[in-house]
Amino acid sequence: MTDHDAPHDDASPDEDRRQSGDAWRDAGPARTDGGEPSEARRPSSELRSDGGADAAGADDVALDPWGSSTVADYRKLFDQFGIEAFDDILPGVPTPHYLMRRSVIFGHRDYGRVARAMREGEDFAALSGFMPTGDPHIGHKMVFDEIIWHQEQGGDAYGLIADLEAHAARDLSWAEIDEHTRSYVLSLLALGFDPEAGELYRQSTNREVQDLAFELGVEANFSELQAIYDFDGETDVSHMQSVVTQMADILYPQLDEPKPTVIPVGPDQDPHMRLVRDLAARMRYFGVTEAYASFEADPAERGLLRKAYNARTDYAEDADRPRCGEAADWLREQDLEPDSARQSAVEKLENAGKEPIRPRTRIFDRRATDAAFEALIEAVDGEKRVYDEHVDAFDLDQDAAEELAREVELDNGGYGFLPPSSVYHRFMTGLTGGKMSSSVPASHISLLDDPEDGYDKVKSATTGGRATAEEQREKGGKADECPVYELYAYLLSGDDDEFATEVYEECVGGERLCGGCKEQAAELMAEFLEDHQEKRDEWEEKLDELDIELESDRRRD
Ligand code: TRP
Ligand code: SF4
Repeated sequence: MTDHDAPHDDASPDEDRRQSGDAWRDAGPARTDGGEPSEARRPSSELRSDGGADAAGADDVALDPWGSSTVADYRKLFDQFGIEAFDDILPGVPTPHYLMRRSVIFGHRDYGRVARAMREGEDFAALSGFMPTGDPHIGHKMVFDEIIWHQEQGGDAYGLIADLEAHAARDLSWAEIDEHTRSYVLSLLALGFDPEAGELYRQSTNREVQDLAFELGVEANFSELQAIYDFDGETDVSHMQSVVTQMADILYPQLDEPKPTVIPVGPDQDPHMRLVRDLAARMRYFGVTEAYASFEADPAERGLLRKAYNARTDYAEDADRPRCGEAADWLREQDLEPDSARQSAVEKLENAGKEPIRPRTRIFDRRATDAAFEALIEAVDGEKRVYDEHVDAFDLDQDAAEELAREVELDNGGYGFLPPSSVYHRFMTGLTGGKMSSSVPASHISLLDDPEDGYDKVKSATTGGRATAEEQREKGGKADECPVYELYAYLLSGDDDEFATEVYEECVGGERLCGGCKEQAAELMAEFLEDHQEKRDEWEEKLDELDIELESDRRRD
């Protein structure tokens, strides 16, 4: 162990990190988990913008749930994958968690739904899962904290052990899995998870999850998994099964009744989120769209029909009763894009001839039973028209129709799932620079590390310091590139924003030197570990009272 009084020059060599000068922003690229992608498990080219980790100019964006995900520029995830910036939604979150305030949680999908439920005191849930592949570390702590925070905000909270996935995708034995399962559960409890209010489970013993996984599997096929995860003919069947199991985990909180559900994860899990949001929609009995006439139209055509309807006074003999044929004549003359949609819309309007063009809400049958479709027709109030595969409602707006469709679905044995939401946190940089990796002990701090070892690891960490104390006083340290600063922001400052800001400002202002800074961080880390491990010991005594099965009766290999 080296103890420098002067700042050192071993700052992380990563050139890619942007320098926003913002105290909270830059966490830099890293991943909490090592491991190279195997041939069968590389993500498809659709999912990665680079040529793979070895290609020139790589290290850009690669999202692979089982490989090594690197994110050099988090903003790219917004453009390339449609993840939304968390900052935009932050004002709508009541009393946000510090990881949200500090933009460690940088992105989301559809979190507005969950924030709204929180604001309005409605039901919501939070769930995340952990592969028991090693000891829980400070990267997992972020996710534990996120689940616990949502529980404190009144949400139903779930923590699951992805033992099937660990066995299938990581080849861990059941003996190893059991040992780690116990450890994850203890840390989650020690950090404040309330097992009475929330639920802890392991995939292998949750019958409901497995049944739901089977049903979801009916809706997903191999080509799809191939496109999303780059699975191929060599991929284990159980690995594929672990995918539908994760889909079921994510929808499990909604089995009682549909509710906004957030899944806090790293961005490497985003492919799973895209698939599960899709599957949740595919399981729905009915879909709801706007429509303008009895015929079917795709979204592009629908936009043009809307325009034609809105322009009715320009062409209709009787503006209260514009006809499809009249609209066709009008639309034929318009210079509207896309041209192919314009042409097909004109054709459909022509065929409808004298039928009035008239806005309505369409509820169509996706996979409803006959009885459910009948019940839906019954349930629509006001003027309606019934067709083979849809019913058009003239006195219902889309929101009301959505609600009605969900009610009828639930009454008739459907799930009525809402699309699940997600929040994404940045990966922590390894203490030795580069990635934080479970396979490099010095790069991360395990929640089981001896407090003294934790202290030593922090003291030997890479910093964003200058070559000499003099230079540091003059130019200030590079907190944005400093793994030690990250420890303060992500963990050691806890809820105390002022303290985190102070460290940052003192560092970049040249008042703080790395030796002392690391000493302080190391002491705080040792204290945290000591306290955490004491709480783990206390829970160890009470583990038997919990529902979760800690010992699997599976074969030992
Ligand atoms: N695949 C996750 C991982 O690699 C674990 C997991 C299983 C999970 N089921 C989940 C995460 C449901 C979030 C939600 O760690
Ligand atoms: Fe050095 Fe601390 Fe600044 Fe990092 S945050 S560069 S350790 S003074």
